[in-house]
Amino acid sequence: MGQEERNPGVRPAGSDPGPRKVHIKTFGCQMNVYDSERMAELLAPAGIAETADMDEADIVVLNTCHIREKAAEKVYSDLGRIRQLKDRRRQAGRRTIVAVAGCVAQAEGGEITRREPAVDLVVGPQSYHRLADLIARLEADALPIVETEFPEEDKFAALPARARSRSPAAFLTVQEGCDKFCTFCVVPYTRGAEFSRPVAAIEAEARRLADHGVREITLLGQNVNAYHGAGPDGEAWSLARLISRLAGIGGLERLRYTTSHPCDMGDDLIAAHRDEPKLMPFLHLPFQAGSDRILAAMNRRHTGRDYLALIERIRRARPDIALSTDVIVGFPGETEAEFSATVALLEHVGFAQAYSFKYSPRPGTPAASMAQLPESVRDDRLQRLQAVVERHQTSFNSASVGKVVPVLFERAGRHAGQLVGRSPHMQWVHAEAESSLCGHVLEVEIRAAGANSLGGRLRSDAA
Ligand code: SAH
Ligand code: SF4
Ligand code: F3S
Repeated sequence: MGQEERNPGVRPAGSDPGPRKVHIKTFGCQMNVYDSERMAELLAPAGIAETADMDEADIVVLNTCHIREKAAEKVYSDLGRIRQLKDRRRQAGRRTIVAVAGCVAQAEGGEITRREPAVDLVVGPQSYHRLADLIARLEADALPIVETEFPEEDKFAALPARARSRSPAAFLTVQEGCDKFCTFCVVPYTRGAEFSRPVAAIEAEARRLADHGVREITLLGQNVNAYHGAGPDGEAWSLARLISRLAGIGGLERLRYTTSHPCDMGDDLIAAHRDEPKLMPFLHLPFQAGSDRILAAMNRRHTGRDYLALIERIRRARPDIALSTDVIVGFPGETEAEFSATVALLEHVGFAQAYSFKYSPRPGTPAASMAQLPESVRDDRLQRLQAVVERHQTSFNSASVGKVVPVLFERAGRHAGQLVGRSPHMQWVHAEAESSLCGHVLEVEIRAAGANSLGGRLRSDAA
């Protein structure tokens, strides 16, 4: 397809373009949510305002996820619709720049522009700090750009200072990439090698967020507990040390972190769950499978027994901790007995939350070339496992009924006059409350529980 068609002329002379707008659609994990916020922040000084309405956007960014086939394919179905939008806008004399960012961009690079010519820009997760320049280049010269290098420079240092957070509960990426190479996973290829940000940069960003009204920060990393960033003393600091430093920030009431690997759960981090009151009693710790043979084939570097022993130590340190996990069913070669070992481990621990996934072969990963199980077997196991998870979630939530829990209200609820926030155990709690109470931690008496949320009433002395 010719360049003319790909990038038709700019707006007609004489029309007032007004401020340019960007629509960013986010797929995948919390790290993409963080990256999308940073993209919006870095485009603002270039006079590009964010819009929730894709139809009025001059620039559409899809911040994508490559973790499972469905996630990646969703991007192409969206791009088909965006191509039509781009055509409609072109007929109205308006140009639209379409950018694909995130992990699909990193994994597929130039293949994306070949498969979907409406795409002008492909920008990987380690290059998005250059987004404003790349857009300016596109505006001057309509050739498509693919930018998926892992540059030497520190992306975070190149980003502008953090702006106001949309929510009183914010994400803050402290670590990126992964060196673990689980055989099913694309992350080491899409996000690159492990990298930890320096303590001082994280602390400055956290202080800025707290100054802007943020009350809770979730520290993010693909392997967050492998954090080993440079401390102010020049030593490599652990995640536990980082947490204790951030806990000293006034105004910040709650800290969390995600996602952790069982092998990096150090003694000091377990102790932090006992000693640091701002660290919330919740831990997301994926175990993926219960069978040791499957765990070895996944290259997880731990056994089921190691995982259970770890959980026991964590519960000794913080008896009321709520646990969450990720599980994969239908990994290549998984037998019915091996699947049962996963269910048994779930039953044994009793998770407050669990995310379960049907194994999805990912190009370039070792497990993709192993003999695959039929789709019907994977589907059936997923359904059976999800029934167990739902039972556990409901029973965990039901145990909250009648209790009074502190809730950080984050946003308006579905019904008028309602706010929604999180309990210390990460449960969503709905309650009738004035919108001015958003951003406050208030005591709520829990009256109702479902598999995914709680309902309650503000204690009268709190309102
Ligand atoms: N860094 C995190 C996981 C990131 S991906 C960790 O190590 O736990 C989030 C989850 O997606 C994983 O925990 C895993 O359960 C699931 N997942 C990853 N690759 C997958 C695949 N190929 N098929 C199905 N699920 C997958
Ligand atoms: Fe993927 Fe494993 Fe790394 Fe997690 S630890 S990001 S599952 S390779
Ligand atoms: Fe998806 Fe990339 Fe996150 S593959 S899960 S967006 S790290």
